[in-house]
Amino acid sequence: MDTTELQRTVAAMVRAPKGLLAADESPPTIAKRFASIGVESTEAHRRAWRQLLLTAPGLPETVSGVILYEETLGQQADDGTPFARVLEERGIVPGIKVDLGKVALANAPGDEITEGLDGLAKRLQRYREQGARFAKWRAVYNVSPTLPSRLAVKENAHALARYAAICQDEGFVPIVEPEVLIDGDHTIERCSEVSEQVLHAVFHALHRQRVVLECLLLKPSMVLPGKHGAKAPPTEVAQHTLAVLRRTVPAAVPGIFFLSGGQTPEEATANLDAINRLGAQPWVLSFSYARALQAPALDAWRGDPANVAAAQRALAHRARMNARAREGRYESAMESEAGR
Ligand code: 13P
Repeated sequence: MDTTELQRTVAAMVRAPKGLLAADESPPTIAKRFASIGVESTEAHRRAWRQLLLTAPGLPETVSGVILYEETLGQQADDGTPFARVLEERGIVPGIKVDLGKVALANAPGDEITEGLDGLAKRLQRYREQGARFAKWRAVYNVSPTLPSRLAVKENAHALARYAAICQDEGFVPIVEPEVLIDGDHTIERCSEVSEQVLHAVFHALHRQRVVLECLLLKPSMVLPGKHGAKAPPTEVAQHTLAVLRRTVPAAVPGIFFLSGGQTPEEATANLDAINRLGAQPWVLSFSYARALQAPALDAWRGDPANVAAAQRALAHRARMNARAREGRYESAMESEAGR
């Protein structure tokens, strides 16, 4: 396989001090986010919101790539420029979520499996014409004393690896996203145990599918206690997270871009900062947040065109805080820069 183009895409995505913006919410998820601010999820509202995000002043300084939803890839800005071209012209790599969501895993009560492999190569060819250069596939793992089952760990790893192989074959850099969910009252140790099993299985499957590790990015969850228990301090999250990653992720992988997974925006920044304060690691450790980047902007926007500039400032501020965290140079006092 000629990996020249894949390497170029990876190099653009891992560039310091940037991270990724996930703006790929499926229709039910974006409807939920909009409902929280009293906005109806129409095509026009979704386009207006995504235009606000993608055209935010200052974004290219801290964001190297944006994960889009299929609908957005087919939409244009007010002046008729396709969104993928808007991003490219700003030096931001356009990406696309390609999984088709999760369903119950047969014969494994409580476990889920992500679908979307059938016809994936053909869809990628279309997305490529529309300007996308990287892709994302999310697998989720519910945590309990008995979940996820070995079957769920194995089958989701297999699907992630098949997806990654198909992506590379079509010239797309795959973002491999195994999310160990925060829902529940499990301990940080239980999350650590599950995360280690999951990542071990994922890299075993990637090896079996002959995926080029140098040309993929990992998007894992941080190792956290369940959301119904007490929160762990950033230093503890950082130590657990790095211990698991060092045991399971080969050094050939160029970058690890965390999801925020239910952390507040400030927590997601503080935890990323603590991870990067533990010293240089084999991989870039950055962010690929949806909620933790978008929440303050969504709150500022509330569907009112008069609030677009304020919302864009809120987004740029969060991205700047996370860019500092990527370098282990974030201080909570920097939060007062908001709105400047
Ligand atoms: P969150 O940062 O909101 O967890 O979303 C990241 C993502 O892309 C989920 O697939």
